[in-house]
Amino acid sequence: MRKKIVVIHGPNLNSLGTRETEIYGNISLSELNAILLSESIVKEIELAIFQSNSEGEIIDLLHKCDGDGTDGIVINPAAYTHYSIAIMDAIKSMRTPVIEVHISNIYSREPFRSKSVTAGACIGQITGFGYYSYLLALNFLVKQN
Ligand code: DQA
Repeated sequence: MRKKIVVIHGPNLNSLGTRETEIYGNISLSELNAILLSESIVKEIELAIFQSNSEGEIIDLLHKCDGDGTDGIVINPAAYTHYSIAIMDAIKSMRTPVIEVHISNIYSREPFRSKSVTAGACIGQITGFGYYSYLLALNFLVKQN
């Protein structure tokens, strides 16, 4: 059976490719999504990808995924990482495994980025590997029983 995995990109990630390219690189969100979709074909994953700038929409999506047969979630909560108790609570309430990813290394940047309120609710965090952070998370979830 193909695993059903959902990737959630948080706020401002729709601006990838033009936003602070020295930190986030030159690839756009649609290019990143194309890389993830081609990986999903190779790994035989059923992949759905969402981006939202809204905290409530991300929470609604997490709730929907918990119980609709989704096997795993890869989330880049972006700036919400650092302060969204609401997203942390939503992740905590879930049975579906969630991995937090970041393109940049949040521990080598401004001090306020070194705190993730959401990572503790996830099974783990992958940070600083550019778009490979997403691929590493996908590969872990594929191998999980
Ligand atoms: C980010 C890191 C966050 O601190 C920042 O607010 C983002 C992107 C990353 O992927 O490196 O928007 O999550």
